[in-house]
Amino acid sequence: MSYRLLSCVAFCLLGVGPLETAVFQTPKHRVAQVGSEVFFKCDQTLGHDTMYWYKQDSKQLLKVMFSYNNKQRILNETASSRFLPQSSDKAHLNLRIKSVEPGDSAVYLCASS
Ligand SMILES: *[C@@H]1O[C@H](CO)[C@@H](O)[C@H](O)[C@H]1NC(C)=O
Repeated sequence: MSYRLLSCVAFCLLGVGPLETAVFQTPKHRVAQVGSEVFFKCDQTLGHDTMYWYKQDSKQLLKVMFSYNNKQRILNETASSRFLPQSSDKAHLNLRIKSVEPGDSAVYLCASS
């Protein structure tokens, strides 16, 4: 049994979680150097058509940044071109942040509906 197969099994078991974990965000935590790039993955298995990325800053304000419906961007509330969402299909909305700045420190939340 290869290690690759074992890690795949572990991943699949995690996927069979309770219903409320049907939106998967990875990584859970990320510490990055100023100027570097970060990448967050978000997948949902709920069959929803619309996905969202929210940012919750240090003042606990929750703001929507992007919304995609069936791969199409329907909302962009960011003021920065450093935030690059990517949607390959309705179940995936990844977020790349280029050249990170101190003000990017936040809790980023992915959701679907
Ligand atoms: C979102 O809007 C900002 C401000 O107009 C722009 O700089 C950025 O490129 C837009 N992002 C996307 C993914 O279209």
